[in-house]
Order: sequence, then structure tokens, then C-alpha cells
Amino acid sequence: MLIGVTRETRPGETRAAATPATVRQLTGLGYDVVVESGAGALASFADDAYAEAGARIGDAKEAWGADVVLRVNGPDIEEVKNLKEGAYIAGLMAPAQSPELLAEMAKSNVTALAMDAVPRISRAQSLDVLSSMANIAGYRAVIEAAHHFGRFFTGQVTAAGKVPPAKVLIAGAGVAGLAAIGAASSLGAVVRATDPRPEVADQVASLGGTYLPVEAETEQSTDGYAKATSEAYDAAAAKLYTDQAGDVDIIITTAQIPGRAAPRLVTAADVASMKPGSVIVDMAASSGGNVEGSKAGEVITTDNGVIIIGYTDLAGRLPAQASQLYGTNLVNLLKLLTPEKNGEVTLDFEDVVQRGLTVTHDSEVLWPPPPVKVSAAPAAQKAPEVEAKPERQPMSMAKKISLVVAGLAVFFLVNAFAPDPIPDHFTVLSLSIVIGYYVIGKVAHALHTPLMSMTNAISGIIVAGALIQVGLNNTVIEILAGVATLVASINIFGGFAVTRRMLSMFSKGA
Ligand code: NAI
Repeated sequence: MLIGVTRETRPGETRAAATPATVRQLTGLGYDVVVESGAGALASFADDAYAEAGARIGDAKEAWGADVVLRVNGPDIEEVKNLKEGAYIAGLMAPAQSPELLAEMAKSNVTALAMDAVPRISRAQSLDVLSSMANIAGYRAVIEAAHHFGRFFTGQVTAAGKVPPAKVLIAGAGVAGLAAIGAASSLGAVVRATDPRPEVADQVASLGGTYLPVEAETEQSTDGYAKATSEAYDAAAAKLYTDQAGDVDIIITTAQIPGRAAPRLVTAADVASMKPGSVIVDMAASSGGNVEGSKAGEVITTDNGVIIIGYTDLAGRLPAQASQLYGTNLVNLLKLLTPEKNGEVTLDFEDVVQRGLTVTHDSEVLWPPPPVKVSAAPAAQKAPEVEAKPERQPMSMAKKISLVVAGLAVFFLVNAFAPDPIPDHFTVLSLSIVIGYYVIGKVAHALHTPLMSMTNAISGIIVAGALIQVGLNNTVIEILAGVATLVASINIFGGFAVTRRMLSMFSKGA
């Protein structure tokens, strides 16, 4: 079959549905590829690069007339007539908002594959364009904020004075939010994040942020997505945003509940309480906005000098990478549809992923698909009742004193009655136990392994002893010395090898 990659027609779209690298993968699946001249120009992919990768460069008619048409944005109603009957088309189609487009495609007997309808289940992650684009958009939101913010993100101590780090609040720790947390922390800012799903706290911390819990009941999610928040939650969250607005320099909002308008989180009064020069990026501006006063696609400055960014094309602001990731999502779709790698599409409606993203087929509109049972997060379960372990009580003073008295008594008895050289050795042993106990007790548990490898090396004394014994011309002693040397060496080298492995886990690599 022939795959056609057309030029994007939506104003402001910079991404392409294929890159030279993805064209190579498509031809590897047995397809011929025709790319409309200039399709990758805005993403810095020249026609020559596509041709070198094995595509034919053609005009719009050829690309639209292919058996499978790949797009970033779905066609508009007018463009449907460019498709041949029975063709497949894949792209972002917003099927819930586009009933007329779906009807038109069904009428033309086109099979429409909506990339924004891929069910969010683990198996479909490699096709999930909403995630791959939100990841880029979250990163870019931080870059846009840094661009408009007239100060450093990281703190500095210079001869000319001290610069405090910027404080950033991220609302919503889903795909975009987590990418924003990672980007802002790597620029050196102090990052805080909040989300109704407490299970994201560890992910926030692992990216360098601090999770701010909202102290109110939320309905436990069973599919990894937030449920609509309760009134009590919203009231507690409103207080958190009001407190934070007066303190932070940057707010990035990414809050979304699938199938609903964006929740309003930051009020005009919160914005008014922010310092002049502060920046807000409202990533949900196109679906109603998380921030009062944000405008989709625009940057506005409030009376008190706060900049509110409402860009809706954040992923497209990194066009080369966005095209590469989007194109890879499409390649993964085609891998799924071409199990034989023979350049022929085979649709299998038994597969929930293929069924979920097919919105028209055989002149029929197939939207909405039957619900998919997702299990991104384990269902809330009652914690099994564990028998509570009695807490370890610190030793009582009386017990401590009796132990010390008993130890001293043994020490004096040994010194008074044991034959030489036992008292000397016993004194050394007793002092070593006391010093060892206090030294090791003060070392953090995480450092016990490196500490042990150093102390293991002390067993080098065994090797020295064994070497002295080897010269005695006694076979039994020689065998024992050999075994002692071997075992002591394993102890020494093994200790260092384990320490090395442990430390390499903390190394960031070159
Ligand atoms: P996601 O579903 O992975 O994450 C949304 C997060 O919001 C979830 O963690 C959810 O628990 C949280 N949330 C829900 N209600 C909340 C509330 N009341 N307070 C705080 N957090 C709440 O979604 P994803 O993919 O990260 O997208 C986030 C937003 O970014 C969406 O609105 C999406 O449309 C938008 N987006 C915008 C782009 C742009 O160019 N402006 C590009 C890509 C995505």
C-alpha cells in the first residue's frame, strides 16, 4: 500500500506527520511512501532528507490520494473529498467535538483513525500522542515561563550579590505537569506541585519537586486519572493557591479531568496578589482555562504586571522533536496494523486499541467506542490488617547500669586471674567493641556498605599472616595458608566490588 504524508493546512501548525527517520521505519514495514513537497519544512526536514530516507516527493494530489494518509491534524470537511474511497486516514480528530467531520468521512467510506482516541492503557502507550505531546508541552511551558520571567531560575552567590532561586508552583502532576516539574527543577528553581491524586507524591519528589497535599477527602481513582474533586477539596485547594500565589514567582497549571472543562484553580484575586514580573502558564487555556483571565493563544499582562501565557501550541514550539515523537506514535500504530510487515493494513476490532481509535469504517461512524476497562492504578483496597509489632522500647537506665557493672566485673576478673597474655588481648578486644559500636552507630545506614568494604580490607592482615606461614615447609600449613589467602582476598575484593556497584547507581554517567 502507498502511505501519503501531506502538508499540514491548519494555520500555525509546525509539526509533520513523518520525519526521515520514521519514513525509513514505514518502508521497513513494506509500505511505499509519498511525501508532499514541503511537508516537513517548518520542522526543519527538507524534501531531500525524506527522499534519501526512501520516500518519493510528490504533490498534494498524490499524497492525499494514497491508500493511507498520515496527518497531524485530521482533515477539515472540505479536505475529505481529496481522499479516495476506502482510504485510511490517521491524525488528531477530536472525535467528540467533530460529529460533522465523522459523518462526512463515513459518507466517503473512509476509515478514520483518531490518534487522540487511543485508550490510555499500558499496552497502547507507544501510540499515545496525547502523552507524547503533553510531555513536550510541559517542558516547553517552563521554557516559555523562563523566557518571560526577568530573573534567573537558579539561585546564585556572586561577588555582586546573592540571587535567590525562583519558586515555581505546578498545578496538576499528570504527564505535562511531571515534565514541567523535571524541567523547572533542572533549571535550578524551587519546585512545588499539587494534584488531587496523592499517589503522585513520590513521582513529584523523584523529579526534584515538593508535593503539596490538599487536606481534604478526594474520591480514590481506580484508573490513574483524577475524579471530579469534591467541594471540600476545592475549598481547601483554593486556600492553598491563595497562600502560594503570594509566595511563588511562576505558576504552571496543567489540571484536567478527562471529558470535562478545565477546573478553575487560580482566581483573579490570586493573580492580583502575585509579585509584578511573575509568570503564569495556563496549559488548559484552550479548554476553558485553569486561570481566571487567561486567553487561549495569547500572552497578556495584568494591571499588576503579572504575565499570563495561554499558548495552545506548546508542543508545536519544538517542531522537530514533536514531529519525531508524533511520527513514531504513527509508526507504532502501523506496526500494530501490519502484523505481517507486508505493507497491507489489517484492522482487528477484537483489539480494544484498534477498536478504540477507529472512529469511522465501512461507511459507519463508530464513535464513541465501547468503554475500555483501564487499570492504570490499582483499585483502592483496604490495607490488610497486620498485627501491630510492639514498638522497640529504649533500654531503661537501670538495665544500662547493670550491663556496664557486669561488663566491668568481667573485665577486672579476667585481668586479675587470667594468665598472660590474655589480659592484654582482652583489654584490646573490649576497647575495640566499645569504639566500633559508637563509630558504626553514627554512620548512616546507606553508607554501611562502603564502610564495610574498608573494614573488610583489614582482613588483609590474614593474607600477611598466611604468607609468613607458607615458608614453614609443612603441607597442612601451606594448604591452610592458601585457603586463608583465597578467602581473605574474596572478602577484600568482593567488598570493594559491591561498593563500586552501589556507588555507580548514584552516578549520573558521562
Ligand atoms: P493528564 O490527564 O496526564 O494530567 C492532568 C492532571 O491534572 C492529572 O494528574 C489530574 O490528577 C490533575 N488534576 C485534575 N483536577 C485537578 C485539580 N482540581 N487540581 C489540580 N490538579 C488536577 O493530562 P496531560 O496530558 O498532562 O495534559 C494536561 C493539560 O495540558 C491538558 O489540559 C491538556 O489539554 C493540556 N495540553 C496543552 C498543550 C498546550 O499546548 N497548551 C499541549 C498538550 C497538552
